[in-house]
Amino acid sequence: MIKHTDHFHGSDLEKIEQVYGIKKEDITSFSANVNPLGISNLLKETISEHVTCIETYPDREYTELRKTLGKYCGADPSHIIVGNGSTELISILIELKHPKKAMILGPSYSEYEREVSLGGGTSLYFPLKEADGFKLNIKALEERLTDDVDMLILCNPNNPTSTVIDQKGLRQVLDICKARDIFVMVDETYIEFTENMEKLEGIPLTAVYSNLFIIRGVSKFFASPGLRLGYAVTGNEDLIREINTKKHPWSISSIAEIAGRIMFSDSEYIERTRNLITTERKRVTDRLKGMKDLGITCFEPSANFVLCRIDSDKADADTLFDTCIRQHMMIRNCSTFPFLDNHFFRICFMDPEDNDRLLDCIENALR
Ligand SMILES: Cc1ncc(COP(=O)(O)O)c(C=O)c1O
Repeated sequence: MIKHTDHFHGSDLEKIEQVYGIKKEDITSFSANVNPLGISNLLKETISEHVTCIETYPDREYTELRKTLGKYCGADPSHIIVGNGSTELISILIELKHPKKAMILGPSYSEYEREVSLGGGTSLYFPLKEADGFKLNIKALEERLTDDVDMLILCNPNNPTSTVIDQKGLRQVLDICKARDIFVMVDETYIEFTENMEKLEGIPLTAVYSNLFIIRGVSKFFASPGLRLGYAVTGNEDLIREINTKKHPWSISSIAEIAGRIMFSDSEYIERTRNLITTERKRVTDRLKGMKDLGITCFEPSANFVLCRIDSDKADADTLFDTCIRQHMMIRNCSTFPFLDNHFFRICFMDPEDNDRLLDCIENALR
């Protein structure tokens, strides 16, 4: 096995090429959490007609893009801010709010902690318990949300646990936070992959709670991480004004603006994606559940990926990664996430044939 000190992030295909000598085009990434359908056909067929749009600056206000987005996500366009990927919006919000103490779920996406510490703040982790299937215990969270916490950061569905808080739970959390003057950021990067999205999404709550900021992007659901397009929704108009004053102008390119307008209106692609992920989520999870005797435990997923635990003398997350990558399939070893170790790995749902190939590989490695 090749020993590496670093673990590979979902997008580290260049690093894999160097270490394993496998061309990145030949790798199926079960680790990047990106829609296996690739970009929308409507976008592929029409984007070249628009290429001359880069001859002019984009609309500084992104009015048409925000209108299309408003229709797509059911928000008032004046409550939408667009950004260079959800990463820019996470960064801007944290820079502006400047939390001294932020509460973050653990394990969760690492970028939140990095941004909080760049601003000189401290992150406190609220551990999601393995015994609870990594589901959020709101009562226990309430006890930890003391008055010195000034920001709560939720990822819903959470990466890497694929667990969700429903709208009712989110309301409870928002009420607690409102009473304690805590601002809440919810990263909904993976929400469109869920089966019952209307019962989970936080956007309708932005009309009621001024301490709420929802972030989404196109990298995963619309399979376009290279486009760098994200958006945020908040009903807090003072905050929108403040962000618009401080934000760099034209941070979304003209081509990303047009691409966004096209992809958000491709309802056939949106439906096909949701159907594929719903079917594969059930099928892959059922097969993983069938590997209990081989030492696999999988935690019930709501998004387009599943967190698994491996307890076997045949393999751990590191060696399983090595076995899979040699067969040109990349899984995510989760030992770099807080509260997880070398027993945990995450895989996303790809095409049925690819999913079967990976599941066969895992099964053979543990037999
Ligand atoms: C939870 C979460 N939020 C945000 C991002 C980054 O998204 P974007 O490409 O829109 O900046 C990722 C990427 O892996 C993620 O997992």
